[in-house]
Amino acid sequence: DKFRIAVLVGSLRKDSFNRQLAHALRRMAPEDVVLTELRIDDLPPYNQDDDAHQADSVRRLKTEVAASQGVLFVTPEYNRSIPGVLKNAIDHASRPYGQSAWAGKPAGVIGVSIGAAGTCMAQQHLRNVLAYLDMPTLAQPEAFIQAKDGLFQEDGQIGEASRQFVQGWLDRYVAWVKRFAQV
Ligand code: FNR
Repeated sequence: DKFRIAVLVGSLRKDSFNRQLAHALRRMAPEDVVLTELRIDDLPPYNQDDDAHQADSVRRLKTEVAASQGVLFVTPEYNRSIPGVLKNAIDHASRPYGQSAWAGKPAGVIGVSIGAAGTCMAQQHLRNVLAYLDMPTLAQPEAFIQAKDGLFQEDGQIGEASRQFVQGWLDRYVAWVKRFAQV
């Protein structure tokens, strides 16, 4: 059986570098691992009043997370934190209280930004949230990627200069997921 890893991309932008990175990662995964991006663009703004009757899109998100052995966050940095759309998705699937979809799922955090700091502040904020949600999160290696010419090839694969680094990171994260999937 294959290991399923849910991918949440923190940008809704059509040409998002982070979505491009997520697509490249999907193609770099070993044969027994499937990376699937989950939709977050159709989730309503979170409202606690709706906890007892969550929207279909929210229940879909929770079902997909529950069916995954790991959750990979590929996110830009917005104003030194994670984008609101990503926090919105995280909040939705953490509710109702006691029925969080996140608990125990081994997480990975990676991201690309224009700035040289390569999403490091956003990742640090995200790690704080994931710790509270009881998601064991790969600590090392860290991956702070800057969007430069050549990061992505024409065919969507990671360019020469960064390919080995990104593959190495993914291999470590996949090993992390498998470790938690074992009984
Ligand atoms: C940004 N950007 C940005 N970059 C960064 O390195 N640190 C930051 O704090 C911010 N803040 C920020 C806020 C907002 C509202 C926007 C729209 C952008 C720039 C960001 O790295 C750039 O737009 C990336 O291209 C966003 O990622 P995607 O959409 O390409 O995946």
